[in-house]
Order: sequence, then structure tokens, then C-alpha cells
Amino acid sequence: MRIATLCSGGDAPGMNPCLRAIVRAAVSIHDEVLGIMHGYEGLLDEEFFLHSDGTMFMGLRSVSGLSNIGGTILHSSRSKRFTTEEGLQQAVDVLRRYHIDALIPIGGNGTLSGAYELSQVWEGRIIGVPATIDNDVLGTDATIGFATAVHTAVEAVDKLHDTAGSHDMMFLVEVMGRHCGDIALKTAIASGSEIVCVPEIPTDIDKIIAHLNEIKLSGKTSVLAIVAEGDDAGGAVTLQQRLIDSGYCPFDSRVVILGHIQRGGIPVPEDRVLAAMLGCGAVEALHVGENGKMVGSIHGKTTLSSLQDVIGEHRQVDPDLLHLLRIVAS
Ligand code: F6P
Repeated sequence: MRIATLCSGGDAPGMNPCLRAIVRAAVSIHDEVLGIMHGYEGLLDEEFFLHSDGTMFMGLRSVSGLSNIGGTILHSSRSKRFTTEEGLQQAVDVLRRYHIDALIPIGGNGTLSGAYELSQVWEGRIIGVPATIDNDVLGTDATIGFATAVHTAVEAVDKLHDTAGSHDMMFLVEVMGRHCGDIALKTAIASGSEIVCVPEIPTDIDKIIAHLNEIKLSGKTSVLAIVAEGDDAGGAVTLQQRLIDSGYCPFDSRVVILGHIQRGGIPVPEDRVLAAMLGCGAVEALHVGENGKMVGSIHGKTTLSSLQDVIGEHRQVDPDLLHLLRIVAS
């Protein structure tokens, strides 16, 4: 089987170990693997991974040393062209011209939606792999990159605790997550933060002020609030302004936006293991004739869900974890 693979959308730590797993799983059963550079954009431009000697097929050694490398050696992009009818047709032409039998796209919701659209017009097989720091994909307990992003955010908040404590103040720390507050919530629990604002739950300024006053009365002198970028309050900057404008905020505050720092860095072991499972799972799925599916991990087991079922909505935070935060942050 000739398999092509690509990374698309925001990079996520663990994409490289996933590529390593795909290549190793495929080559060990004598498949051919082509790496496509720059995601769907590179597919349209026929931009393939090339070794220094000009050869295209990826071998066992092409992916040596990738298990602990962040980013993606295939590079990524967000392609607008691919989402058009002409773009999809052009992609089909390229896949046919290179005699590609199957495609493994690695990425988040946009990538998987693109994979579904392609599956409607191309006769080859497609198995998607969920990789995004946001952990907002249905059909899997975790996406590749999420654990590392939380690790990075917790390290940053641990440091901010020192300054918040020394200056008796509040930090509003903005983390990524447009649709899902999972990075924010897990960061808040793990870092011992008092407040979390997530896109799934409307932010009530009066409630936050009341909570801050309780915190102050209980004897705490500093506060950490973790705000998902997609919160309905408009992110940490807007939230801070609204707290100041209320005239009743009992803490002086500063905003820290972690931004793309969360997308980089060495993947943590949890992401490397997930990447290995899902990469190998994708190749295995192709070999048993699966098509139009996404590999996921549910309760530690590799699963398959139809692409159509996972792309319509975003995964939401677990309400039990919100409850947990309320208890441990009191
Ligand atoms: O989807 C991953 C993600 O990092 C989101 O958390 C964030 O909203 C978005 O990508 C940022 O995208 P860009 O790098 O294109 O600005």
C-alpha cells in the first residue's frame, strides 16, 4: 500500500513521534510512505518530503530521533485553498497522479473536517489522527499535544504563584482553547489556581467578584485565575478590564498571555505514547480495510470513530473536573 501522511493546522507536540510511528508501522509491513510538506497546502503544491539524496519514500531511518522533538518535520499550514471545491479536486488529482492508496492526516478539527470532505470525492482510504493542544476533538479521551501543553502552562503558572504571593496580587493567565476549556481547567487544577473561565460556561463578573471577596476574607492574599482564550468574557485582557470597571475587585491584577509557547517544546511521555498508539493504530486500520475514520484512545484502548461523527461538534470540558476544582481551590 502507498500511504501519504501530512500534518495540518496548529502544530502540536507529539506530531513528530506520531509520524515516526506511522512510518515504522507501515514500513515494517512493506508499505511505502510519502510525507507531504505543509499540510493540505503542500498536497496541492505536490510538495513532498525529500531526503538529502533526493529520494521520496520514508524509511525506518528517515524518522530516527523524532520521539522527543516538538513541532513537525513535515511542517504545517492552514490551507484555505483546500477547502474549496476546486482545491479538493486538485488534491484528488495529485493523490491519483502519485498512485497514493491511503492518506493519514494528523491534526485537529479543521484537519479532520478536511479529511472528511476529501473522503467524499477521493476513492482512496483515509484515517485521521487527532493532534491539537486544545483537546477539543470528539471520539478520543485526549488529542496528541494536549498533555504537553498543560505541562507547559502549569510550569508557567507555578512561577507566577511566586510573584502573586510576594506582591499580594492576582494574575489572570490566558491559555489557548478557542472552543474547549480543557487546557484551562486541567492547568487550574494542577497548578492550584483559584478561578477558571472556560468557553463552555458563561462568565459572570458579579460571581467572580463575590468569589474573590470570599477568597480575601478566607485569608488568601493572592489569586491565580486561568482564562481560556475562547471564554465569552473575551479573554484575560477584557476580563481584567471588566473586573476593574466593576470598582469592587479586591485584588490588584496583571495579565499574562501564554500564547504559542504552549504549542512548542519536548512532548511529554504521555503524548509520545499516545502518538505511538494512534500512529500505529492508523496504519493497522488501513490494513483491515477501514476508511473515513479517525483513530482515538478511549480508556487506554485504540478506537475508531467515523470522521463524520467527530467533526460536527467540539469536545467539552468534563463537568466533574469543574466540581473538583471548586473543592480543591477553596
Ligand atoms: O488549534 C490550536 C491552536 O493553538 C488554538 O489553541 C489557537 O486558538 C489557535 O491554534 C491559534 O492559531 P494560530 O497559530 O493560527 O494563530
